[in-house]
Amino acid sequence: MSDKITVPKIVAKKRAKEPIAVLTAYDFQVASILDDCGIDILLVGDSLGNVVYGFDSTLPVTIEMMIAHTAAVVRGRTNALVVADMPFMSYTSIKDTLNNAGRLIKEAMAEAVKLEGGVRVADRIKALVEADIPVMGHIGLRPQAVNIMGGYKVQGRDKSETSSLLDDAKAVEDAGAFAVVIEGVAANVASKITETLSIPTIGIGAGAGCDGQVLVVNDMLGISEHTPKFVRNFAPLSNIIKDAVSDYIKSVRDKTFPGSKESYK
Ligand code: KIV
Repeated sequence: MSDKITVPKIVAKKRAKEPIAVLTAYDFQVASILDDCGIDILLVGDSLGNVVYGFDSTLPVTIEMMIAHTAAVVRGRTNALVVADMPFMSYTSIKDTLNNAGRLIKEAMAEAVKLEGGVRVADRIKALVEADIPVMGHIGLRPQAVNIMGGYKVQGRDKSETSSLLDDAKAVEDAGAFAVVIEGVAANVASKITETLSIPTIGIGAGAGCDGQVLVVNDMLGISEHTPKFVRNFAPLSNIIKDAVSDYIKSVRDKTFPGSKESYK
């Protein structure tokens, strides 16, 4: 059997109780490294607005940015499923949703798209699935709704929030999504959603009860300066890069680089 991860294989992992490992990727080389390690899904998240472009939210991200980065990730990937985020304001009508998701699939060769929202975006998820475009939902803390939410706040901490999260999760599943990201949600609520749904849940800041986990790659590699409580730093890359660059600067300045081995005869 081919090692290529497909949408049906991701859905089957829930039935087989196999945890799904997801990381964001924004460029060719990192995508290729993560793919070599056997990551299941490469998510070209609109978090690239913060991580790659230095914006203080995801709101300025454009469909053109998403297409360029998704195409680079696709070129670096061999087996992982590539999911591309639909940026803010790119899915306000069904017509725009189909047009913009179609561009991510046709121009960048993404295999699925992700969009934020539950009950209120169910009609757009349904339209995409009817057009044969697989959709990953995204409920709970929705970074694109930062201005409506008044900040990045953990969701599901009272009864009414919990019940609307369950409604959102159900709406996303009923509309035909193949998986759903649950972000910034109390762990017990995310577990309850996971038990209720037949599609896989992918948690970020949503506890251990989800069917899979996703992190922003720069956060887990220790490149990002500030990270939320739910991030585990799996490698202190920022320190490693700083040491290497300081060493390089010193070597240039004291003229020990390049040496004879690094020079053409
Ligand atoms: O944009 C993103 O990277 C995301 C994940 C963190 C879920 O949506």
